Amino acid sequence: MASVLFVCLGNICRSPTAEGVFRHLVAEAGLSQSIRTDSSGMGSWHVGNPPDERAQAAARRRGIEIGDLRARQTRPADFNTFDYIIAMDCQNMADLQALCPPGYGDRLHMMLDFATDISEAEVPDPYFDDSGFDTVLDLIENASHGLLEHIKAKERA
Ligand code: 4NP
Repeated sequence: MASVLFVCLGNICRSPTAEGVFRHLVAEAGLSQSIRTDSSGMGSWHVGNPPDERAQAAARRRGIEIGDLRARQTRPADFNTFDYIIAMDCQNMADLQALCPPGYGDRLHMMLDFATDISEAEVPDPYFDDSGFDTVLDLIENASHGLLEHIKAKERA
């Protein structure tokens, strides 16, 4: 069993989108019993809320439902619960590093380190930009394929 936690700032736009896209890929691959997914935010503003309506709509246009997800805040215990803790941007990564107990830093990754053929290093925050949600999905779909291949290769090793 591998476990993956996607992390952004609010846990209502990027990280639930990543959780939904990745969960969809994992299900298509028949691996839902082997790979556990979750998402969280560094901030607490939206705890308990469903994903932003714009994120839900953008995902739904690609056949992915995320309306069941609820926001929660990242906690120190996540570091010994999840094998992969995946930041959407550099600020999320810096905040995670500050929260990370000694010895767990190798669980931290940038989402777009798993993407191919792109120049971006970060998934941009779409909260204040209505046009950003499709870009977020493009980047997340790309990286999710790479992440799944990475985990499958690790599990085989
Ligand atoms: P997310 O987007 O980190 O992708 O969920 C944001 C959601 C809410 C806020 C900022 C970013 N906010 O400031 O409330």
